[in-house]
Amino acid sequence: MNRCAVLLAAGNGTRMKSAGPKVLGEVLFKPMICWVVDNCREAGIEDLCAVVGQGAEAVCAVLPQGCQTVYQAQRKGTGHAVLCAKDYLERHRGQDVLIACGDAPFVAPEVIARALEAHRREQAAATVITALLEDPSGYGRIVRSKEGALEAIVEEKDASPAIRQIREVNSGAYWFQADALLESLEQLRCANSQGEYYLTDTVAILRREGRKVQACLAGDQYTVMGANDRRGLQRLNEIARRRVLDRLLDEGVDIPFEDGVIVGPEVQVGRDTRLLPGTVLRGRTTVGEGCVIGPRAQVEESQIGDRCQVRDTYLLSSVLEEGVEIGPYCRVRPGSRIGKGVKIGNFVEVKNSQLGEGTKVAHLTYVGDSDVGSRVNFGCGTVTVNYDGFHKHRTTIGDDVFVGCNANLVAPVTIGDGSYIAAGSTVTVDTPADALLIARSRETIKEGRAAQMRKKAGC
Ligand code: UD1
Ligand code: CA
Repeated sequence: MNRCAVLLAAGNGTRMKSAGPKVLGEVLFKPMICWVVDNCREAGIEDLCAVVGQGAEAVCAVLPQGCQTVYQAQRKGTGHAVLCAKDYLERHRGQDVLIACGDAPFVAPEVIARALEAHRREQAAATVITALLEDPSGYGRIVRSKEGALEAIVEEKDASPAIRQIREVNSGAYWFQADALLESLEQLRCANSQGEYYLTDTVAILRREGRKVQACLAGDQYTVMGANDRRGLQRLNEIARRRVLDRLLDEGVDIPFEDGVIVGPEVQVGRDTRLLPGTVLRGRTTVGEGCVIGPRAQVEESQIGDRCQVRDTYLLSSVLEEGVEIGPYCRVRPGSRIGKGVKIGNFVEVKNSQLGEGTKVAHLTYVGDSDVGSRVNFGCGTVTVNYDGFHKHRTTIGDDVFVGCNANLVAPVTIGDGSYIAAGSTVTVDTPADALLIARSRETIKEGRAAQMRKKAGC
């Protein structure tokens, strides 16, 4: 492939006023550095090296396997950061290397690929990805000659008033010939307002040496947008959110009101599904066709089949087969598989359990670590007692079982097909098929006793 990338992710994030590293700031629940990694991979770059510094361990934890890392002990600027990856660059001599900032998530794969094409076509030593902004403040400005050739990149803090007027800015992403980059890095100095080694100075250095450098202008202004502070991060979130909602609307998803509807970039939603206010869909969630999700549903890393309804509910790492109705006020925790047509009503928690087709858990029930058959009816207030204080155990319930209200099923326990558990029973033994199990003491009625007690008490 002859291409690789160095991702700059060591920065202090001082302007974020965060204890953590800036590149872990999330855009639609996904750390910025992960956007950058995915953009690179989609552009066909598999060989990656990240420069890490502040919060290195936390940053490394979100990087994909196989991504190399180098440590920048002191943050002396973007040029110094790339120099920290010198050994990596040496190993990639003869290749084209993309340098990208871990705090600029919108440099799209198509833009990266198009810039590489131009870079190779022109045999450039460096190709800078740029964009035109209404308000260029905060970004490095692209200085061109009268003829339009790229001359230099000037940081805002070092720019004259005339240069500050320039609206073409540096995205912070560039293609370099690895050899040319290595040579120009050696010549960087830190004689600027911030006392840093600027990677951007390599452009003027290469040009002075008579090497070809060029700018590749991206079509939309969002390409370059980065986040240096919380406001910037919020802006990126707003842009990304708008883009996802527009995509879903184009794909036939019904979003009558957008209030609080937030959908992650990897989520897929089928047509004619309605997303109602307060719905948050995260991770690699998929939602089928004709569903109603919300109001107020939070779904993470889950698969929802066609024609499901999920209201006022939290659903994590679980699967709903088609036609499931959940809510309001339910929590479905990881590892659950809810069968076709199941109904789960208010104040029900399901954890790491399978529920067979047509089963109903209508109210106030806990189903944990359980394998439940089809057409089972749970009475109000049923608890699967899955924890004995030391270990978790499973409950197995066959098909067509009726569990009466307020039953405790003490695991490990098995209830056979077609059995009937009387209300208020605490079940500690296995029940065969088609049996009636009653586990409670008989009532005693003492006639007139209440009246006697009242008299004795003087009431
Ligand atoms: C940089 C560019 C600017 C461009 C902008 C685009 C330089 C000198 N300036 O400015 O022209 O318009 O990006 O967003 O390159 N980093 C390190 N080690 C360091 C310093 C920074 O790894 O010592 C990393 C940061 O984590 C960040 C990236 O490099 O991901 C960019 O650094 P930052 O300080 O944000 O640069 P900008 O001022 O935004
Ligand atoms: Ca930045």
